[in-house]
Amino acid sequence: MRKAMTTRLTGAVVSAMALVGVTSLPSAVAEPSAAEAAHRPSGPLVIGHRGASGYRPEHTLASYELAARMGADYIEPDLVPTRDGVLVARHENEIGGTTDVASRPEFAARKTTKTIDGQRLTGWFTEDFTLAELKTLRAKERIPQHRPRNTLYDGRYEVPTFQEVIDLARRLSRELRRDIGIYPETKHPTYFRKAGLALEPRLVEALNRNGLNRPGAKVFVQSFEVSNLKELRRHLRVPLVQLIDESGAPADFVDAGDRRTYDDLVTPAGLAEIAKYAKGVGPSKSRVIPRDDRGFLKQPTTLVRDAHARGLVVHPWTFRNENAFLPADFRGSTNPADYGRAFAEYELFLKQGVDGVFSDNPDTAVAARAERA
Ligand code: G3P
Ligand code: CA
Repeated sequence: MRKAMTTRLTGAVVSAMALVGVTSLPSAVAEPSAAEAAHRPSGPLVIGHRGASGYRPEHTLASYELAARMGADYIEPDLVPTRDGVLVARHENEIGGTTDVASRPEFAARKTTKTIDGQRLTGWFTEDFTLAELKTLRAKERIPQHRPRNTLYDGRYEVPTFQEVIDLARRLSRELRRDIGIYPETKHPTYFRKAGLALEPRLVEALNRNGLNRPGAKVFVQSFEVSNLKELRRHLRVPLVQLIDESGAPADFVDAGDRRTYDDLVTPAGLAEIAKYAKGVGPSKSRVIPRDDRGFLKQPTTLVRDAHARGLVVHPWTFRNENAFLPADFRGSTNPADYGRAFAEYELFLKQGVDGVFSDNPDTAVAARAERA
């Protein structure tokens, strides 16, 4: 459901770069050993997925800060734009599920229905709000049924800008005396390019402005689409990660009428192609160890070995402590909100040789890594 590439996109991206004042971008260069070292710590990376979203409403500064304090190596902002073109951290542009916008009468008329990557959605969308308007909203817990304690923090935090996330990482790096990396994801890049709010030039500009577009900067850039990563490769000097969904196809592939799917991306030929523009893959966990119809684990695939054979690191997602998200093998009770045997799941994936994990519970991931070491 997601591919394309080509000159059409390239032209659009370049035009959009001009629009936001990016006039001269460094061309991509081979990453020297310093850059390699920055991304190869002593053990698998712990990536704070949407921050420490197991404990705080996702994509808030509080969530990112907690992740860093829990020992995460990277914090992960998903990025979407506002109407005035500012990158903000939200998992998707529809914000009804993660903010209090539905209870704001002043924004009632903004409720609308759109098609995003082939899916009809009704709600409120970041691209219909200026940053100033968005800043009046407050974040709330996405899954209160599984994380009722997190609702304690509903209404307390703003939607952060990408710049605020970078500033936080910088401040915490100084305080904690270790480099807190950022791992931004471009969300719905084809959709936003067509809406005249291309993410890529804004991302490149932000990394440039902050001195983070350089070999050795502790940054990975990720996308579920292919063509925007290939384009970003031309402008970024930090490593890229191709996300691999558990099924379907990249939205840019679908948009361009390309029939290839994510299944094609994980074949040896597909991985060889990815290795031309990316340093790694970020697969759904089920691509590493699939589950059967009842949720029990099956035999591991060869993805980790195949990716490593092509020099790609593997960062699967998403590790979560609650039974609702664990394989049936490791559920500790019938209550989906209870914690299950999360350590057993980490152990299994670390044994597979993964190079990092996206986790909603970075403290658990850090402890699992330490136990294995
Ligand atoms: O980016 C890795 C992982 O976060 C992909 O899933 O949907 O949580 O962004 P999602
Ligand atoms: Ca993400």
